[in-house]
Amino acid sequence: MSENKIVLITGGSAGMGKAAASELMRLGYFVIILARNKERGEKALAEIKSESKSNLADLMLCDLASQASIRRFVSQFKEKYKRLDVLINNAGVILPSRHETNDGFELQFAVNHLGHFLLTNLLLDTIKNSSPARIINVSSGAHKAGKIHFDDLNLKKNYNLIKSYSQSKLANILFTYELADRLKDRGVTVNTLHPGAVATQMGINRTTGFGTLITSMLKPFFKSPAEGASTTVYLATSNEVQNITGKYFYNKKPIPSSKLSYDKELAKRLWQVSEKMVHLS
Ligand SMILES: NC(=O)c1ccc[n+]([C@@H]2O[C@H](COP(=O)([O-])OP(=O)(O)OC[C@H]3O[C@@H](n4cnc5c(N)ncnc54)[C@H](OP(=O)(O)O)[C@@H]3O)[C@@H](O)[C@H]2O)c1
Repeated sequence: MSENKIVLITGGSAGMGKAAASELMRLGYFVIILARNKERGEKALAEIKSESKSNLADLMLCDLASQASIRRFVSQFKEKYKRLDVLINNAGVILPSRHETNDGFELQFAVNHLGHFLLTNLLLDTIKNSSPARIINVSSGAHKAGKIHFDDLNLKKNYNLIKSYSQSKLANILFTYELADRLKDRGVTVNTLHPGAVATQMGINRTTGFGTLITSMLKPFFKSPAEGASTTVYLATSNEVQNITGKYFYNKKPIPSSKLSYDKELAKRLWQVSEKMVHLS
C-alpha cells in the first residue's frame, strides 16, 4: 500500500495511460491524469474511478505539443500539489504524415520527446524534493530503427512515419539514461520500457477514426491495454526496482536497448539541443 503517493501520468485519457492510472488507483495511489482534451479527459476520469472503485484521481489539462501549455500546466500543478512521487511520461503519437506544432517542431518529436523533456525538467525540483521518487519514460522497441538526425531533427526532408517515430523513441531512451546519470544519488530513479505490441488508440486518427479497422483486426494478436501497462505499473510501484535506475525494461525485466542508445556523447548532445529548443538553457 502506497500511503497515497502522488503519480502524474501523461496520456491518461486513453490506451495504456488510462489502464495504468486505473491500476495505480486500485493500488491506493493518487493519480493525476494529464490530458489534452477536456471531454476525453473527463470521460476517462469517470471510467477509471468506476473501474478502480477509487476517487483518488484528478484531471489536469495540457497539450504536450505546445511549450506554452506545458509551462502553464506546470505552474498550475505547483499551485495545487506540493509533491510528486512518480512521473510517468507515457503520452505518444505516431503519424503517417508530417505535421508541425505552433512552436515550429515536427509533431512526433515535439510530443514524444521535447514535450516530455520540458515537462520533466520543469517538475524536477518538486520531484527531487519528494524523494524517493521515480520517473518512467515509455519508449518502444521501435527505437532500434532510430537515429537522431541532428542535421534535420524536424525531418523537413524525407519524412516518414518510421523515421520520425523511431527517432522520438530513441530520444526517450537517451533522455532516460542521461537523466538517470544526472540524478544518481539524488533519490530519484529514471527508467524506460517497451510495452510490447498493444491494442490501444495508437495510430487512430481522433477526428476521422481512420485506423480503427486495422487496430480491431490486430486486436486478437496484441496485448490488452492493461497487459501493456503492467511494466509501467511495475516500475512505478514495485520494491524490486526501488533502487534500479537507467535501465530499459520489457515484461518487467531489464533488457539491453540498442547499441546507439548507450552512446553518452549522443545523449549529451541531444540534451543540449533539446534545452535550446524548449528554451531551458
Ligand atoms: N500501442 C503499442 O503497441 C505501443 C508499442 C510501443 C510503445 N508504445 C508507446 O506507449 C505509449 C502509450 O501509447 P498507447 O498505445 O496507449 O496510445 P494511445 O491509446 O493512442 O494513447 C496515447 C495517449 O497520448 C495522448 N496524447 C497524444 N498527443 C498528446 C498531446 N499533444 N498532448 C497530450 N497528450 C497527448 C492521447 O490523448 P488523446 O486521448 O487526447 O488522444 C492519449 O491519451 C506511447 O508513448 C507509445 O509510443 C505503444
